[in-house]
Amino acid sequence: MNVLILGSGGREHAFAWKIAQSKALQNLYIAPGNAGTAHCGTNVNLAVTDFEGIKNLVWEKDIDLVLVGPEDPLVKGIHDFFLNDDVLKDIPVIGPKKDGAQLEGSKDFSKQFMIKHGLPTARYATFTKDNLNEGFVFLENMPSPYVLKADGLAAGKGVLIINDLQEAKEELKKMLVDAKFGAASARVVIEEFLKGIELSVFVLTDGKSYKILPAAKDYKRIGEGDTGLNTGGMGAVSPVPFADEAFIKKVEEKVVKPTIAGLNKEGIDYRGFIFIGLMNCDGEPSVIEYNCRMGDPETEVVIPRIKSDLLDLLHGVATQTLHTKEYETRDGYATTVVMVSGGYPGEFVKGKVVDNLEQKFDSLVFHSGTKQAEAKVVTNGGRVFAITSYGVSIEEAVAKSLHTANRIQFEGKYYRKDIGKDLM
Ligand code: AMP
Ligand code: GLY
Repeated sequence: MNVLILGSGGREHAFAWKIAQSKALQNLYIAPGNAGTAHCGTNVNLAVTDFEGIKNLVWEKDIDLVLVGPEDPLVKGIHDFFLNDDVLKDIPVIGPKKDGAQLEGSKDFSKQFMIKHGLPTARYATFTKDNLNEGFVFLENMPSPYVLKADGLAAGKGVLIINDLQEAKEELKKMLVDAKFGAASARVVIEEFLKGIELSVFVLTDGKSYKILPAAKDYKRIGEGDTGLNTGGMGAVSPVPFADEAFIKKVEEKVVKPTIAGLNKEGIDYRGFIFIGLMNCDGEPSVIEYNCRMGDPETEVVIPRIKSDLLDLLHGVATQTLHTKEYETRDGYATTVVMVSGGYPGEFVKGKVVDNLEQKFDSLVFHSGTKQAEAKVVTNGGRVFAITSYGVSIEEAVAKSLHTANRIQFEGKYYRKDIGKDLM
């Protein structure tokens, strides 16, 4: 098969690394990719939302399957674009259509979906600028802290957790009336704060059957001890020790099965990954959010723990034969430590030369934000590498990742040294 992966991050490098090992693969293309994906296949310089450009590429390279990494093209309807095009309609896209992508594209839609299909989730209500005062009353009748969520995609910044009632009211007004997050905050979900430990569970589905992939915990804040600004993710661990078999079984019964059944009841033919953000509240799962894709950097620990052929599984999704596919995972732990550019998640400089990359490491070095500049690899984003290692314990895996991160050099590099510490 000829495969096209859309995206340019560590997630897409992990996908490319895994798919490159498949017996069924002929040619692999990544658009736009990065300096790391170039070692797994051919990079093509195209934006993930350039649907016409993607169409030409698919046609030219005789692509048999498209795997979509990020949410943006899914929410914008790339899958629908394929289905509505005479040339593309029979080429499978892994990733939901616009209707399914609403699970991530609209918090209001996803909360309605959860309530309607009986999933455990925080109590909530949705407001617009026309009922701002009702929003104030709703806040007054809730305990602190207050959770405010912009309805639409806001580049991961649309969730505010605020302790003070007055401040929460002001922020609600800023979101609804002053368009703090643009059109994304024309509607705001206010929900009850959940106390517990967070983790993510990933599901691959062909719309009928599903496989539950390894669970992971990510580390969102820039600083050690989970302090400072939110980032795209500074590290991840899989499996999650507190998500034992009994907990995952609960997740399957109370969350995964009702989600798949709910999609069917709504007439949503969902083929792709579902990323379920969960809170473990005293042993009971509660859904925080859905994403219509895999997580980054979670993919960099989840995919390396899958022993089976990923392309075979994706082919199963495309042909709705996922239930016939072999699915095995690897024991032990995988951890990833994300190396970022100095200044991230604020301002940072790109184009720093990376040294020592050609050395042999006891880790998988996934590129997130890099590009090839003649003979050199240079930094090209806030998150630069995700350094994944295996271990029989979290300690062992993290130690390997830290050792590798210490050796790879670029000016201003930073990484957290406490990934997984809370789980040890
Ligand atoms: P989201 O963008 O939905 O992933 O939310 C960002 C982060 O806010 C989540 O990863 C949680 O850490 C936190 N969060 C969201 N909703 C809640 C909630 N209802 N209770 C507690 N924390 C939450
Ligand atoms: N690591 C969180 C995400 O991919 O949304």
